[in-house]
Formats: sequence, structure tokens, C-alpha cells
Amino acid sequence: MEVFRERRRRLLDLIDGVAIFHAPAASLRNCDVEHPFRQSSDLYYLTGFEEPESVLVVTSVHPEHRAVMFVRPRDQEREPWEGPRPTPDAVKEQLGLDAAFGLDDLGAKLGDYLAGAGRLHYELGLDRAFDERVIAAVRRLRGRRHRSSRPWPCCIVHPEATLHELRLVKGEAEIASLRRAAAIAAAAHLAAMRHAAPGRHEYEVEAALREVFLRRGAARVAFEPIVASGPNATLLHYTGNRRRIEAGDLVLVDAGGELDFYASDVTRTFPASGRFSGPQRRIYEVVLEAELAAIAVVRPGATVDQVHDSALGTMVRGLVRLGLLQGDPAELIAQESHKRYCPHRTSHWLGMDVHDAGSYFEGGQSRALVPSMALTVEPGIYVSPADDLAPAEYRGIGVRIEDDVLVTASGHENLTQAIPKGVAEIEQACRR
Ligand code: GLY
Ligand code: MN
Ligand code: MN
Repeated sequence: MEVFRERRRRLLDLIDGVAIFHAPAASLRNCDVEHPFRQSSDLYYLTGFEEPESVLVVTSVHPEHRAVMFVRPRDQEREPWEGPRPTPDAVKEQLGLDAAFGLDDLGAKLGDYLAGAGRLHYELGLDRAFDERVIAAVRRLRGRRHRSSRPWPCCIVHPEATLHELRLVKGEAEIASLRRAAAIAAAAHLAAMRHAAPGRHEYEVEAALREVFLRRGAARVAFEPIVASGPNATLLHYTGNRRRIEAGDLVLVDAGGELDFYASDVTRTFPASGRFSGPQRRIYEVVLEAELAAIAVVRPGATVDQVHDSALGTMVRGLVRLGLLQGDPAELIAQESHKRYCPHRTSHWLGMDVHDAGSYFEGGQSRALVPSMALTVEPGIYVSPADDLAPAEYRGIGVRIEDDVLVTASGHENLTQAIPKGVAEIEQACRR
């Protein structure tokens, strides 16, 4: 409980007014079946509470309360199916809040909590129905502005400016969770390398991944696993995972588990039969060189753009060497000719969400890294099977290599270092 209280205290240092965070409702898949529920990362970060539809109000303007929650009321009819819901009193006690109410009180009390706040910290656009309730409360306060000298929330601020700044720099417990999530990703990727073989299907490899994640305590995968064999590896978001793996294929596996609400996100690309062909290996070595060069840049003070530029520069020089691009590497990048083969950026923040919260720019500039940020480094080269400008031997090859990297005081730590990625190591892991 103390870690969540401390986070709320730190949020209060950043806000002037009221912040509202709310959990989604469970969403219906069909008839009586729901999609798996996953708590909102923002709400969980501040409370550790997993109930759907909960609303957290953090306020610097209320005379007595700083943190208040509204929770789903008990429902006698649902209890035999879902178990009892915690009462407001229990929630107040359990989470160390100043007050807690049933959600049925939200309409009456929201205006009271917003009164006197010149700023409302709230993410508009996540849930239109809830937006309407918040906007209605704000309008009612505005309607009283002739009568009351107290501020009303004329300014609505996205949590990127406040809470997400906190989420971006991880605390010790969060780093420990990221490490555990990285460790299960390592085990899962090794299992995938052992399972992928000509004649097997992509979904069989997916099953091997999921088995390791679940067996090792992951509540869920951090995103739908990509098991892309042969030409499927050139589709960035391929998640069909139905194809039969053929001899001579590369298999690109991009998968991560979510442990204690923290994600891992790792990609390895390996030969199904245990040995890279010449062209596969040449592309692979360019991507590997780029990945290592980009990771080497990660240290406090370096920017996200510098990490990307390092990867991209290395890849474009490699593409010229291999005859996939012709010309001066710097000019090719300036003209964006590389996008044919290297269409995506190199990094994203990693944390509770796989593409974690936090701004990538500061004062209009690429953001400088600070210790305890976590990011992926994931360069890739993808040659479409239909690319008739590419030398034929490279068509249909897709390679990405992705690791999870923590910024440390002295540089960085690769949390997923243990997963094979050198050519010889990979070939050995696949043949085991
Ligand atoms: N797996 C999603 C990504 O790599 O960004
Ligand atoms: Mn990934
Ligand atoms: Mn990623």
C-alpha cells in the first residue's frame, strides 16, 4: 500500500487542482462472455486496485481529502458468479484513502470535488461515456461562475504532463518487475527456438511461448505474440500465426509476457532449420550490428533520436553494402529512401504498457535519457517478397532484433541480454 500512497503524494506535487483516473468497464465479447479485463495502467499505478469501473480522484484543493475512490456497489445477483465486491469502507482501509464511495454517488459528488479546481487532470477520449459525465460536471460549475468566486476547471490537462512523467522513470520495485518480465521472456524465446522447425505451424510456436509465460506466472501476454515465418516476417504486425513453417524459413518471434503489470517485449529472428542461408545471414548481421550500435548509445544524456540514428545509420550503410540501396547513406536517409526496408523507429518506452506512457520530446527536442528509464531497441530490415527492385536473393526476408534496455547511472543494462542473438548462438539454440 505504501508504494501507491507515495506515488499519489508525488502526483500531488505535480498537480494543482484535481486529477481523475477511471478504470474501464469489462467489455462484452458476446452474449454472456466478456473479454479478459485488464486494469488501467494509470489507475493501477496509483492504487494497485484491480476492480473494473473504479474512479480515483486525487485533489490538491479539497479541504480534507487528497485521494478518494468510487467503486462498483455490491450486486447480490452477480455475487454467486463473480464473488463479493469490496465495499467502499474496505477499499478506503485497504488502499489508505481519505474516503471511498459507491459509484452511484459519483454524479452527486463529482461536482463537489471539482469545485475550486482551476485545472482538471484527465485523459479525454479514452471513454466517451465517462467523458460526458466529467464534461457535464465541469459545465455545471461553469454555469455557476457568476455566483461563485471559486475557480472552475477551465483547463483540462492530459496526464502525459504529470502522471506519465512519473511512470517514465521507474522505481526500484518497478525495475524488479521489469527484470522478472524479462526473465520469463528469455525462457519463452528459448522455448520458441526449440519448437520452431520445418513442418510445425506458427501457432505451435505461439503455444510454446504462451505456455512458458503462463507457467512462469505472467497474468497475460503483454501484446498478441507475433510468430512470422518466411515472408510473413516482412509484415510488421502479423499476428495470424497460422502458416506452416517451411525448411529454409526464417522465423521472427516478437513476444513478451506481463508480470505484476510490467511488460517485456523481445524479438528474435532465427532459421527454422538451424542454419542461416547466405542472404539471410547477411541481412541478419546488418540488423545485429545496428542493434548493438544503438544499445551502445543508451546512457544518461543521450537522446532517443541518437539511439535511432545510430541504428538507422548502421542499417543504411549495410543496405548499400548489400546492394539493396544505392547512393550515399546520409543522403538516402535525408530522402527517406531507407523507409522501403526500415519503416519503423528504433525505440519505445517500456513499462506497465508495452508502448509505455511518457513523452518522447521535451521542449520540442528529442528527449534525453535519464537513469531508470526503460526502452526497447528494435531495429529491423524487411524486404517484401514483391519488391522487384531488390536483388532476388533478399526478397521475402524480414529480420528484427529487439531487447529491453534499462538506463543506468553509468550507461545501460540490457535486461534481455541472456537471450541468444549472435549468429552462432542462435544456430546452436535452434538445433538443440
Ligand atoms: N511488439 C510490439 C513492438 O515491438 O513494438
Ligand atoms: Mn516487440
Ligand atoms: Mn517493441
